[in-house]
Amino acid sequence: MDVTGLIRPNILSLEPYHSAREKIQEGILLDANESPYTQEWQGIGLNRYPDPYQRKLRSAIAQYLGVRMDNVLAGAGSDEVLDWIFKVFCQPGKDRVAVAEPTYGMYRVTANIFGIPCFEFPFDKRFDFSAERFLEVVPAHTKVLFLCSPNNPTGNLLDRDEILQLSRKWEKIVVVDEAYIEFAEHSSLVADLDGIPNLIVLRTLSKAFGRAGIRLGYAVASPEVIAHFLKVKAPYNLSTLTMENGCQVLGESENQLRRVQEIRRERERVAAQLREIPQIEQVFSSQTNFLLFRSPQASLICDRLLEKQIVVRDRSSLTGLVNCIRVSIGTSSENDLFLDELQRIVKGNL
Ligand SMILES: Cc1ncc(COP(=O)(O)O)c(C=O)c1O
Repeated sequence: MDVTGLIRPNILSLEPYHSAREKIQEGILLDANESPYTQEWQGIGLNRYPDPYQRKLRSAIAQYLGVRMDNVLAGAGSDEVLDWIFKVFCQPGKDRVAVAEPTYGMYRVTANIFGIPCFEFPFDKRFDFSAERFLEVVPAHTKVLFLCSPNNPTGNLLDRDEILQLSRKWEKIVVVDEAYIEFAEHSSLVADLDGIPNLIVLRTLSKAFGRAGIRLGYAVASPEVIAHFLKVKAPYNLSTLTMENGCQVLGESENQLRRVQEIRRERERVAAQLREIPQIEQVFSSQTNFLLFRSPQASLICDRLLEKQIVVRDRSSLTGLVNCIRVSIGTSSENDLFLDELQRIVKGNL
């Protein structure tokens, strides 16, 4: 299929901002009104603008994923990549998007910011996605579907074949947010991108790589989609510090990802202990670094934990998640403190 027809006409014809350093990045640099005096922090030169094409970083990401550099582009967190998707594909007053719910709230918030109507498509009872069911009900003028796999806050992976089937049948944009994929048992959809130009995968360094503070998320997609993202992104969206640090952690990904094993082990330990607590009705299985559990005392549990400076997330207001709490997996001692306090709270309220 051809994605060109899905791109907003003003973006197709947009002449983007050009930097004079497209071809040459080193030499006598008198083109950008920077300070000529070297300013360094931790050995990183900061007086020059960062590379708008993110060449070093994109090549590090491409190497980590086994794709080409023109398949990736990075934003200040994957939240910034959401902005590009709306800018490139969604025409206000005409297009709409669909979000498979319950899920991460930023897809809907971003749609609201851009003034694009959002169709809420409910997952089935097992929080899975069915391509056939979606195709039966999707409203006209829906341009983009947002899926999250493994899903936040339910923790499950979506059926890969359903996603691929939809991407092949539905000639619109399918976005799959894989923020938590490194914690999952199955591999990323990045391996399936070839030949599916309408599929966009979102990834981030905020979770398994432990770099939420540097703000670095990225899109993996066909070169055509990436070329249009490059047109709409702010030229200097990522700081030199962020890009350097990103390259460094990606270069030691094996070390970084060892932590993922620890978190998975802790996740299963915490889940087993939660399942022992009679006042907890359900602990959902998880392919992420968090757990979702249900208790009739959910709101009281959140309030009491907060009094002890333990912050968890009450997800009860989301569709299908009455009385559900999401808790991130912390260090072993943090998890023990959480479990001890939780037990004290529920016992006191028998
Ligand atoms: C599903 C999902 N996607 C994206 C993000 C945010 O990613 P980033 O930090 O790269 O903006 C989160 C954060 O909680 C998330 O749960």
